[in-house]
Amino acid sequence: MKIKISHDSKLSWSGDALALSFFTDKVELNPELTQLDQNLDNTITELITETEFTGKSGETIITRVGGKNSLRKIILVGLGKEEDLTLDSFRQAGGNIARIAKQNNIKTLAIAINHNNYEDDILAQVISEGIILALHEDKRFKSEQKTSKITLDSIELLDLPASNTAIETAEKITSGVILARELVNAPANEINPITMAKTVEKIATEYGLELTILEQADCEKLGMGAFLGVALASDLPPKFIHLIYKPEGIAKRKLAIIGKGLTFDSGGLNLKISGSGIETMKMDMGGAAATFGAAKAIAQLKPNVEVHFISAVTENMISGKAMHPGDILTASNGKTIEINNTDAEGRLTLADALVYSDKLGVDAMVDLATLTGACIVALGNDIAGLWTTNTPLATQLTTSAQIAGEKFWQMPLEDKYFDQLKSPIADMKNTGSRAGGSITAALFLQQFVKNTPWAHLDIAGPVWAEKPTAIDNEGGTGFAVRTLVNWILSN
Ligand code: BES
Ligand code: MN
Ligand code: ZN
Repeated sequence: MKIKISHDSKLSWSGDALALSFFTDKVELNPELTQLDQNLDNTITELITETEFTGKSGETIITRVGGKNSLRKIILVGLGKEEDLTLDSFRQAGGNIARIAKQNNIKTLAIAINHNNYEDDILAQVISEGIILALHEDKRFKSEQKTSKITLDSIELLDLPASNTAIETAEKITSGVILARELVNAPANEINPITMAKTVEKIATEYGLELTILEQADCEKLGMGAFLGVALASDLPPKFIHLIYKPEGIAKRKLAIIGKGLTFDSGGLNLKISGSGIETMKMDMGGAAATFGAAKAIAQLKPNVEVHFISAVTENMISGKAMHPGDILTASNGKTIEINNTDAEGRLTLADALVYSDKLGVDAMVDLATLTGACIVALGNDIAGLWTTNTPLATQLTTSAQIAGEKFWQMPLEDKYFDQLKSPIADMKNTGSRAGGSITAALFLQQFVKNTPWAHLDIAGPVWAEKPTAIDNEGGTGFAVRTLVNWILSN
Protein backbone atom coordinates (compact mmCIF):
# COMPACT_ATOMS: atom_id res chain seq x y z
CA MET A 1 0.00 0.00 0.00
CA LYS A 2 1.37 3.37 -1.03
CA ILE A 3 0.20 6.80 0.19
CA LYS A 4 0.77 9.72 -2.16
CA ILE A 5 0.07 13.42 -2.36
CA SER A 6 -2.11 14.14 -5.39
CA HIS A 7 -2.76 17.44 -7.10
CA ASP A 8 -5.97 16.20 -8.71
CA SER A 9 -9.20 17.87 -7.64
CA LYS A 10 -12.22 16.02 -6.30
CA LEU A 11 -13.85 16.61 -9.71
CA SER A 12 -11.02 15.23 -11.81
CA TRP A 13 -9.76 12.30 -9.71
CA SER A 14 -10.62 8.85 -10.97
CA GLY A 15 -10.46 5.59 -9.05
CA ASP A 16 -12.44 3.22 -6.84
CA ALA A 17 -13.48 5.46 -3.95
CA LEU A 18 -13.35 9.08 -2.90
CA ALA A 19 -13.64 9.86 0.82
CA LEU A 20 -15.13 13.20 1.94
CA SER A 21 -15.20 14.54 5.49
CA PHE A 22 -17.81 16.56 7.37
CA PHE A 23 -18.19 18.20 10.76
CA THR A 24 -21.11 17.25 13.02
CA ASP A 25 -24.28 19.16 12.17
CA LYS A 26 -22.48 20.98 9.37
CA VAL A 27 -23.06 18.46 6.64
CA GLU A 28 -23.18 21.00 3.84
CA LEU A 29 -21.83 20.94 0.30
CA ASN A 30 -19.55 23.76 -0.81
CA PRO A 31 -19.66 24.84 -4.50
CA GLU A 32 -17.08 22.21 -5.53
CA LEU A 33 -18.97 19.41 -3.75
CA THR A 34 -22.25 20.66 -5.21
CA GLN A 35 -20.68 20.33 -8.65
CA LEU A 36 -19.42 16.82 -7.80
CA ASP A 37 -22.88 15.91 -6.49
CA GLN A 38 -24.44 17.06 -9.74
CA ASN A 39 -21.92 15.04 -11.75
CA LEU A 40 -22.97 12.03 -9.66
CA ASP A 41 -26.75 12.54 -10.12
CA ASN A 42 -27.17 13.84 -6.51
CA THR A 43 -25.73 10.69 -4.96
CA ILE A 44 -24.05 12.62 -2.15
CA THR A 45 -27.12 14.60 -1.05
CA GLU A 46 -29.30 11.49 -1.28
CA LEU A 47 -26.80 9.45 0.71
CA ILE A 48 -26.66 12.08 3.45
CA THR A 49 -30.45 12.23 3.73
CA GLU A 50 -31.13 8.50 3.46
CA THR A 51 -28.55 7.48 6.05
CA GLU A 52 -29.24 10.47 8.31
CA PHE A 53 -25.48 11.08 8.24
CA THR A 54 -24.65 13.72 10.84
CA GLY A 55 -20.84 13.82 10.69
CA LYS A 56 -20.32 12.38 14.18
CA SER A 57 -16.74 11.39 14.93
CA GLY A 58 -16.18 7.83 13.74
CA GLU A 59 -19.29 7.75 11.52
CA THR A 60 -18.51 6.29 8.07
CA ILE A 61 -20.85 5.58 5.16
CA ILE A 62 -20.07 4.14 1.75
CA THR A 63 -22.16 3.89 -1.40
CA ARG A 64 -21.85 2.83 -5.01
CA VAL A 65 -22.03 5.61 -7.57
CA GLY A 66 -24.06 4.78 -10.68
CA GLY A 67 -23.55 5.77 -14.29
CA LYS A 68 -20.42 6.28 -16.29
CA ASN A 69 -18.38 8.15 -13.75
CA SER A 70 -14.67 8.06 -13.17
CA LEU A 71 -15.55 7.19 -9.56
CA ARG A 72 -17.05 3.93 -8.32
CA LYS A 73 -17.79 4.70 -4.69
CA ILE A 74 -18.19 7.61 -2.30
CA ILE A 75 -17.22 7.42 1.37
CA LEU A 76 -18.44 9.94 3.93
CA VAL A 77 -16.58 10.27 7.20
CA GLY A 78 -17.50 12.27 10.31
CA LEU A 79 -14.86 14.47 11.93
CA GLY A 80 -16.98 15.31 14.99
CA LYS A 81 -17.86 18.81 16.12
CA GLU A 82 -15.75 21.53 14.56
CA GLU A 83 -15.06 23.11 17.94
CA ASP A 84 -13.76 19.77 19.31
CA LEU A 85 -11.37 19.27 16.40
CA THR A 86 -7.81 18.24 17.31
CA LEU A 87 -4.92 16.94 15.26
CA ASP A 88 -5.88 13.45 16.40
CA SER A 89 -9.35 13.84 14.78
CA PHE A 90 -7.52 13.61 11.44
CA ARG A 91 -5.47 10.57 12.51
CA GLN A 92 -8.71 8.83 13.48
CA ALA A 93 -10.45 9.90 10.28
CA GLY A 94 -7.54 8.40 8.31
CA GLY A 95 -7.99 5.16 10.25
CA ASN A 96 -11.77 5.07 9.81
CA ILE A 97 -11.56 5.70 6.08
CA ALA A 98 -8.86 3.05 5.61
CA ARG A 99 -10.96 0.50 7.50
CA ILE A 100 -14.17 1.04 5.50
CA ALA A 101 -12.20 1.09 2.23
CA LYS A 102 -10.54 -2.22 3.06
CA GLN A 103 -13.83 -3.82 4.12
CA ASN A 104 -15.29 -2.80 0.76
CA ASN A 105 -12.44 -4.14 -1.38
CA ILE A 106 -11.34 -0.71 -2.58
CA LYS A 107 -8.07 -0.81 -4.52
CA THR A 108 -7.53 2.85 -5.26
CA LEU A 109 -8.71 5.43 -2.77
CA ALA A 110 -8.59 9.22 -2.59
CA ILE A 111 -9.09 11.16 0.62
CA ALA A 112 -10.22 14.79 0.63
CA ILE A 113 -10.42 15.99 4.20
CA ASN A 114 -11.62 19.32 5.57
CA HIS A 115 -8.74 21.10 7.15
CA ASN A 116 -8.80 24.32 9.04
CA ASN A 117 -6.00 25.57 11.17
CA TYR A 118 -3.35 22.93 10.71
CA GLU A 119 -0.35 22.90 8.41
CA ASP A 120 -0.46 20.64 5.37
CA ASP A 121 2.58 18.58 6.38
CA ILE A 122 1.46 17.68 9.88
CA LEU A 123 -2.02 16.85 8.52
CA ALA A 124 -0.64 14.58 5.81
CA GLN A 125 1.55 12.95 8.46
CA VAL A 126 -1.21 12.19 10.96
CA ILE A 127 -3.73 11.06 8.32
CA SER A 128 -1.06 8.69 6.98
CA GLU A 129 -0.31 7.42 10.49
CA GLY A 130 -4.01 6.68 10.98
CA ILE A 131 -4.21 4.82 7.67
CA ILE A 132 -1.10 2.70 8.26
CA LEU A 133 -1.98 1.83 11.87
CA ALA A 134 -5.59 0.93 11.03
CA LEU A 135 -4.49 -1.37 8.20
CA HIS A 136 -1.84 -3.18 10.25
CA GLU A 137 -2.95 -6.67 11.24
CA ASP A 138 -0.81 -9.07 13.23
CA LYS A 139 -1.30 -12.44 11.54
CA ARG A 140 2.08 -13.92 12.45
CA PHE A 141 0.60 -16.64 14.62
CA LYS A 142 -2.18 -17.78 12.22
CA SER A 143 -1.28 -20.90 10.24
CA GLU A 144 -3.42 -19.77 7.30
CA GLN A 145 -2.74 -16.34 5.95
CA LYS A 146 -6.14 -15.16 4.74
CA THR A 147 -5.23 -12.65 2.08
CA SER A 148 -7.99 -11.32 -0.12
CA LYS A 149 -7.20 -11.03 -3.82
CA ILE A 150 -8.19 -7.39 -3.78
CA THR A 151 -5.93 -5.19 -1.69
CA LEU A 152 -5.94 -1.49 -1.03
CA ASP A 153 -2.82 -0.52 -2.92
CA SER A 154 -3.00 3.20 -3.57
CA ILE A 155 -4.20 6.03 -1.36
CA GLU A 156 -4.01 9.60 -2.64
CA LEU A 157 -4.43 12.66 -0.44
CA LEU A 158 -6.29 15.40 -2.32
CA ASP A 159 -6.49 19.12 -1.50
CA LEU A 160 -3.44 18.75 0.72
CA PRO A 161 -0.29 20.18 -0.87
CA ALA A 162 2.09 18.58 1.62
CA SER A 163 5.61 17.28 1.05
CA ASN A 164 6.42 13.62 0.56
CA THR A 165 8.62 13.87 3.64
CA ALA A 166 5.45 14.15 5.72
CA ILE A 167 4.32 10.73 4.51
CA GLU A 168 7.79 9.27 5.00
CA THR A 169 7.79 10.59 8.57
CA ALA A 170 4.49 8.79 9.16
CA GLU A 171 5.98 5.58 7.74
CA LYS A 172 9.01 5.83 10.02
CA ILE A 173 6.99 6.55 13.16
CA THR A 174 4.43 3.83 12.47
CA SER A 175 7.17 1.27 11.82
CA GLY A 176 8.14 1.85 15.46
CA VAL A 177 4.53 1.63 16.67
CA ILE A 178 4.07 -1.62 14.75
CA LEU A 179 7.28 -3.11 16.19
CA ALA A 180 5.99 -2.28 19.68
CA ARG A 181 2.60 -3.85 18.93
CA GLU A 182 4.22 -7.01 17.61
CA LEU A 183 6.54 -7.32 20.60
CA VAL A 184 3.55 -6.99 22.95
CA ASN A 185 1.40 -9.43 20.95
CA ALA A 186 4.11 -12.06 20.78
CA PRO A 187 3.54 -14.60 23.57
CA ALA A 188 6.09 -15.28 26.30
CA ASN A 189 7.24 -18.46 24.54
CA GLU A 190 8.22 -16.33 21.57
CA ILE A 191 9.53 -13.10 23.12
CA ASN A 192 11.68 -13.84 26.16
CA PRO A 193 14.84 -12.12 27.42
CA ILE A 194 16.99 -13.88 24.80
CA THR A 195 14.78 -13.18 21.78
CA MET A 196 14.12 -9.63 23.00
CA ALA A 197 17.88 -9.02 23.00
CA LYS A 198 18.11 -10.56 19.51
CA THR A 199 15.34 -8.27 18.26
CA VAL A 200 17.23 -5.23 19.54
CA GLU A 201 20.47 -6.54 18.01
CA LYS A 202 18.70 -6.61 14.64
CA ILE A 203 17.61 -2.97 15.01
CA ALA A 204 21.15 -1.99 16.01
CA THR A 205 22.65 -3.73 12.97
CA GLU A 206 20.03 -2.50 10.53
CA TYR A 207 20.33 1.16 11.52
CA GLY A 208 23.92 1.26 12.76
CA LEU A 209 23.18 1.97 16.43
CA GLU A 210 25.52 1.23 19.34
CA LEU A 211 24.42 -1.65 21.54
CA THR A 212 25.62 -2.98 24.88
CA ILE A 213 24.01 -6.02 26.43
CA LEU A 214 24.95 -6.67 30.03
CA GLU A 215 24.80 -10.36 30.91
CA GLN A 216 23.99 -11.66 34.38
CA ALA A 217 27.66 -11.57 35.50
CA ASP A 218 27.98 -7.94 34.34
CA CYS A 219 24.84 -7.01 36.28
CA GLU A 220 26.24 -8.79 39.34
CA LYS A 221 29.42 -6.72 39.10
CA LEU A 222 27.31 -3.56 39.02
CA GLY A 223 25.45 -4.77 42.11
CA MET A 224 22.04 -4.91 40.42
CA GLY A 225 20.54 -7.00 43.20
CA ALA A 226 16.98 -5.78 42.67
CA PHE A 227 16.87 -6.69 38.98
CA LEU A 228 18.65 -10.00 39.58
CA GLY A 229 16.33 -10.86 42.46
CA VAL A 230 13.39 -10.78 40.06
CA ALA A 231 15.32 -12.90 37.53
CA LEU A 232 16.18 -15.67 40.05
CA ALA A 233 13.42 -18.13 39.20
CA SER A 234 13.62 -17.86 35.44
CA ASP A 235 15.32 -20.63 33.48
CA LEU A 236 16.36 -17.96 30.97
CA PRO A 237 19.25 -15.54 31.52
CA PRO A 238 18.38 -11.90 32.23
CA LYS A 239 19.50 -9.33 29.66
CA PHE A 240 20.18 -5.69 30.45
CA ILE A 241 19.83 -3.94 27.11
CA HIS A 242 21.36 -0.53 26.37
CA LEU A 243 20.87 0.75 22.81
CA ILE A 244 22.27 4.16 21.82
CA TYR A 245 21.33 6.48 18.97
CA LYS A 246 23.97 9.13 18.31
CA PRO A 247 23.45 11.86 15.71
CA GLU A 248 26.16 12.60 13.15
CA GLY A 249 26.94 16.10 14.39
CA ILE A 250 27.15 17.28 17.96
CA ALA A 251 24.05 16.33 19.92
CA LYS A 252 21.98 19.25 21.20
CA ARG A 253 20.75 17.20 24.12
CA LYS A 254 21.11 13.74 25.62
CA LEU A 255 18.07 11.78 26.73
CA ALA A 256 17.30 8.33 28.13
CA ILE A 257 14.20 6.18 27.86
CA ILE A 258 13.84 3.22 30.20
CA GLY A 259 11.16 0.59 29.62
CA LYS A 260 9.93 -2.13 31.97
CA GLY A 261 10.80 -5.41 30.25
CA LEU A 262 9.04 -8.31 31.97
CA THR A 263 8.50 -10.77 29.13
CA PHE A 264 6.14 -12.57 31.51
CA ASP A 265 4.86 -11.70 34.97
CA SER A 266 3.48 -14.70 36.84
CA GLY A 267 3.58 -12.70 40.07
CA GLY A 268 6.35 -14.92 41.48
CA LEU A 269 5.55 -16.69 44.76
CA ASN A 270 2.81 -14.09 45.31
CA LEU A 271 1.41 -15.85 42.26
CA LYS A 272 -1.24 -14.06 40.23
CA ILE A 273 -4.51 -15.88 40.81
CA SER A 274 -6.76 -16.78 37.92
CA GLY A 275 -8.82 -13.78 36.88
CA SER A 276 -6.03 -11.39 37.87
CA GLY A 277 -4.91 -11.10 34.29
CA ILE A 278 -2.08 -13.67 34.37
CA GLU A 279 -3.23 -14.77 30.90
CA THR A 280 -2.22 -11.44 29.39
CA MET A 281 1.03 -10.91 31.30
CA LYS A 282 3.06 -11.34 28.10
CA MET A 283 2.23 -7.63 27.75
CA ASP A 284 4.36 -6.76 30.78
CA MET A 285 7.19 -5.72 28.47
CA GLY A 286 5.02 -2.99 26.92
CA GLY A 287 7.39 -0.33 28.27
CA ALA A 288 10.41 -2.00 26.67
CA ALA A 289 8.41 -2.53 23.46
CA ALA A 290 7.61 1.19 23.28
CA THR A 291 11.23 2.04 24.10
CA PHE A 292 12.65 -0.04 21.25
CA GLY A 293 9.78 0.94 18.95
CA ALA A 294 10.74 4.57 19.52
CA ALA A 295 14.38 3.62 18.86
CA LYS A 296 13.44 2.14 15.50
CA ALA A 297 11.59 5.32 14.52
CA ILE A 298 14.32 7.65 15.82
CA ALA A 299 17.04 5.71 14.01
CA GLN A 300 15.24 6.54 10.75
CA LEU A 301 14.22 10.12 11.61
CA LYS A 302 17.79 10.98 12.67
CA PRO A 303 17.22 13.99 14.96
CA ASN A 304 20.13 15.92 16.45
CA VAL A 305 19.68 14.38 19.89
CA GLU A 306 21.55 11.51 21.56
CA VAL A 307 19.15 8.94 22.96
CA HIS A 308 19.78 5.96 25.24
CA PHE A 309 17.16 3.20 25.08
CA ILE A 310 17.34 0.92 28.10
CA SER A 311 15.55 -2.11 29.49
CA ALA A 312 16.37 -4.65 32.21
CA VAL A 313 14.69 -7.68 30.65
CA THR A 314 13.67 -10.84 32.51
CA GLU A 315 10.60 -12.88 33.48
CA ASN A 316 8.99 -13.09 36.92
CA MET A 317 8.62 -16.82 37.53
CA ILE A 318 8.33 -19.41 40.31
CA SER A 319 10.77 -22.19 41.19
CA GLY A 320 12.91 -23.35 44.10
CA LYS A 321 15.26 -20.51 43.24
CA ALA A 322 12.60 -17.81 43.38
CA MET A 323 12.95 -14.84 45.69
CA HIS A 324 10.82 -15.36 48.79
CA PRO A 325 8.37 -12.87 50.17
CA GLY A 326 10.36 -11.29 52.99
CA ASP A 327 13.72 -11.44 51.18
CA ILE A 328 15.90 -8.35 51.35
CA LEU A 329 17.53 -7.23 48.10
CA THR A 330 20.23 -4.60 47.64
CA ALA A 331 19.94 -2.38 44.57
CA SER A 332 22.93 -0.94 42.69
CA ASN A 333 22.75 2.36 44.59
CA GLY A 334 23.18 0.41 47.85
CA LYS A 335 19.59 0.81 49.03
CA THR A 336 18.01 -2.27 50.63
CA ILE A 337 14.49 -3.43 49.80
CA GLU A 338 12.28 -5.78 51.80
CA ILE A 339 10.18 -7.74 49.34
CA ASN A 340 6.72 -7.84 50.88
CA ASN A 341 5.17 -8.80 47.54
CA THR A 342 7.02 -10.59 44.72
CA ASP A 343 4.37 -9.36 42.26
CA ALA A 344 5.61 -5.78 42.62
CA GLU A 345 8.60 -6.80 40.47
CA GLY A 346 8.60 -4.14 37.77
CA ARG A 347 9.77 -1.43 40.17
CA LEU A 348 12.67 -3.72 41.22
CA THR A 349 13.93 -4.14 37.65
CA LEU A 350 13.40 -0.42 37.01
CA ALA A 351 15.27 0.52 40.19
CA ASP A 352 18.58 -0.79 38.83
CA ALA A 353 17.83 0.50 35.33
CA LEU A 354 17.20 3.99 36.76
CA VAL A 355 20.40 3.95 38.82
CA TYR A 356 22.32 2.96 35.66
CA SER A 357 20.63 5.63 33.49
CA ASP A 358 21.07 8.31 36.12
CA LYS A 359 24.85 7.86 35.75
CA LEU A 360 24.85 8.47 31.98
CA GLY A 361 24.79 12.23 32.42
CA VAL A 362 21.72 12.73 30.22
CA ASP A 363 19.65 15.94 30.33
CA ALA A 364 16.42 14.09 31.11
CA MET A 365 15.11 10.55 31.43
CA VAL A 366 11.67 9.00 31.13
CA ASP A 367 10.72 5.54 32.31
CA LEU A 368 7.61 3.80 31.13
CA ALA A 369 6.08 0.69 32.56
CA THR A 370 3.03 -1.52 32.79
CA LEU A 371 3.61 -0.97 36.47
CA THR A 372 0.35 -1.17 38.41
CA GLY A 373 -3.21 -2.39 38.19
CA ALA A 374 -3.88 0.55 40.52
CA CYS A 375 -3.15 2.97 37.67
CA ILE A 376 -5.88 1.25 35.62
CA VAL A 377 -8.26 1.61 38.57
CA ALA A 378 -7.39 5.31 38.80
CA LEU A 379 -7.42 6.29 35.12
CA GLY A 380 -9.14 3.48 33.21
CA ASN A 381 -7.86 1.66 30.15
CA ASP A 382 -7.22 4.60 27.85
CA ILE A 383 -5.21 7.01 29.99
CA ALA A 384 -1.66 6.59 31.27
CA GLY A 385 -0.33 8.15 34.46
CA LEU A 386 2.50 10.69 34.45
CA TRP A 387 4.63 11.49 37.49
CA THR A 388 7.40 14.06 37.69
CA THR A 389 8.54 16.94 39.87
CA ASN A 390 10.04 18.66 36.81
CA THR A 391 7.45 21.05 35.38
CA PRO A 392 9.18 21.71 32.02
CA LEU A 393 9.46 17.95 31.46
CA ALA A 394 5.77 17.49 32.31
CA THR A 395 4.86 20.21 29.81
CA GLN A 396 7.08 18.72 27.07
CA LEU A 397 5.60 15.26 27.55
CA THR A 398 2.02 16.52 27.69
CA THR A 399 2.45 18.53 24.49
CA SER A 400 4.13 15.57 22.75
CA ALA A 401 1.28 13.31 23.84
CA GLN A 402 -1.39 15.68 22.54
CA ILE A 403 0.18 15.76 19.09
CA ALA A 404 0.49 11.97 19.27
CA GLY A 405 -3.18 11.52 20.18
CA GLU A 406 -2.16 9.59 23.30
CA LYS A 407 -3.67 10.40 26.70
CA PHE A 408 -1.69 11.02 29.88
CA TRP A 409 -2.82 12.50 33.17
CA GLN A 410 -0.38 13.97 35.67
CA MET A 411 -0.55 12.30 39.07
CA PRO A 412 0.94 13.46 42.38
CA LEU A 413 4.26 12.32 43.84
CA GLU A 414 2.74 12.64 47.30
CA ASP A 415 5.73 12.34 49.69
CA LYS A 416 3.52 11.54 52.65
CA TYR A 417 2.49 8.24 51.03
CA PHE A 418 6.08 7.02 51.24
CA ASP A 419 5.22 6.14 54.86
CA GLN A 420 3.50 3.08 53.40
CA LEU A 421 6.86 1.84 52.12
CA LYS A 422 8.72 2.17 55.42
CA SER A 423 10.26 -1.12 56.54
CA PRO A 424 11.34 -1.97 60.07
CA ILE A 425 14.24 -4.05 58.76
CA ALA A 426 15.37 -2.57 55.41
CA ASP A 427 15.50 0.89 53.80
CA MET A 428 12.08 0.36 52.25
CA LYS A 429 9.47 -2.21 51.30
CA ASN A 430 8.62 -2.74 47.65
CA THR A 431 4.84 -2.53 48.15
CA GLY A 432 2.41 -0.22 49.91
CA SER A 433 -1.32 -0.65 50.53
CA ARG A 434 -3.93 -0.95 47.81
CA ALA A 435 -4.97 2.69 48.19
CA GLY A 436 -2.86 4.93 45.98
CA GLY A 437 -0.90 1.95 44.64
CA SER A 438 0.28 3.67 41.47
CA ILE A 439 1.55 6.63 43.53
CA THR A 440 3.57 4.52 45.98
CA ALA A 441 5.05 2.69 42.99
CA ALA A 442 6.21 6.04 41.56
CA LEU A 443 7.58 7.09 44.97
CA PHE A 444 9.52 3.82 45.12
CA LEU A 445 11.12 4.54 41.73
CA GLN A 446 12.03 8.06 42.84
CA GLN A 447 14.37 6.50 45.43
CA PHE A 448 16.63 5.42 42.58
CA VAL A 449 16.97 8.78 40.83
CA LYS A 450 19.53 11.26 42.11
CA ASN A 451 20.74 13.70 39.49
CA THR A 452 18.63 13.59 36.36
CA PRO A 453 15.30 15.31 35.60
CA TRP A 454 12.99 12.33 35.48
CA ALA A 455 9.42 11.39 34.60
CA HIS A 456 7.61 8.11 35.13
CA LEU A 457 4.79 6.90 32.88
CA ASP A 458 2.48 4.08 34.02
CA ILE A 459 1.06 2.63 30.80
CA ALA A 460 -0.58 -0.51 32.26
CA GLY A 461 -4.00 0.41 30.79
CA PRO A 462 -3.45 1.72 27.26
CA VAL A 463 -0.74 -0.73 26.21
CA TRP A 464 -3.43 -3.29 25.41
CA ALA A 465 -6.81 -2.86 23.64
CA GLU A 466 -9.73 -5.21 24.32
CA LYS A 467 -11.57 -4.00 21.20
CA PRO A 468 -10.47 -2.31 17.99
CA THR A 469 -10.67 1.49 17.77
CA ALA A 470 -10.24 3.79 14.75
CA ILE A 471 -6.52 3.08 14.55
CA ASP A 472 -5.84 0.18 16.94
CA ASN A 473 -6.74 -3.45 16.61
CA GLU A 474 -7.41 -5.82 19.49
CA GLY A 475 -4.18 -6.52 21.40
CA GLY A 476 -0.99 -4.51 21.61
CA THR A 477 -1.45 -0.84 20.74
CA GLY A 478 2.17 0.34 20.59
CA PHE A 479 1.10 3.00 23.09
CA ALA A 480 3.63 5.74 23.92
CA VAL A 481 5.86 5.27 20.86
CA ARG A 482 4.39 8.34 19.14
CA THR A 483 4.63 10.43 22.33
CA LEU A 484 8.25 9.40 22.92
CA VAL A 485 9.20 10.16 19.32
CA ASN A 486 7.56 13.60 19.50
CA TRP A 487 9.29 14.25 22.81
CA ILE A 488 12.71 13.38 21.38
CA LEU A 489 12.06 15.47 18.25
CA SER A 490 11.00 18.46 20.38
CA ASN A 491 14.32 18.45 22.26
N1 BES B 1 2.53 -6.08 35.68
C1 BES B 1 1.75 -5.82 36.84
C2 BES B 1 0.81 -4.61 36.63
C3 BES B 1 -0.28 -4.77 35.61
C4 BES B 1 -1.54 -5.17 36.01
C5 BES B 1 -0.05 -4.48 34.30
C6 BES B 1 -2.55 -5.29 35.08
C7 BES B 1 -1.05 -4.60 33.36
C8 BES B 1 -2.31 -5.00 33.75
C9 BES B 1 2.64 -5.51 38.03
O1 BES B 1 3.86 -6.17 38.04
C10 BES B 1 1.90 -5.95 39.23
O2 BES B 1 1.70 -7.13 39.38
N2 BES B 1 1.52 -5.01 40.06
C11 BES B 1 0.80 -5.30 41.24
C12 BES B 1 1.42 -4.49 42.34
C13 BES B 1 0.95 -4.89 43.69
C14 BES B 1 1.47 -6.25 44.06
C15 BES B 1 1.45 -3.84 44.67
C16 BES B 1 -0.65 -4.89 41.00
O3 BES B 1 -0.89 -3.91 40.30
O4 BES B 1 -1.53 -5.58 41.50
MN1 MN C 1 3.71 -8.09 38.98
ZN1 ZN D 1 4.59 -6.73 36.22
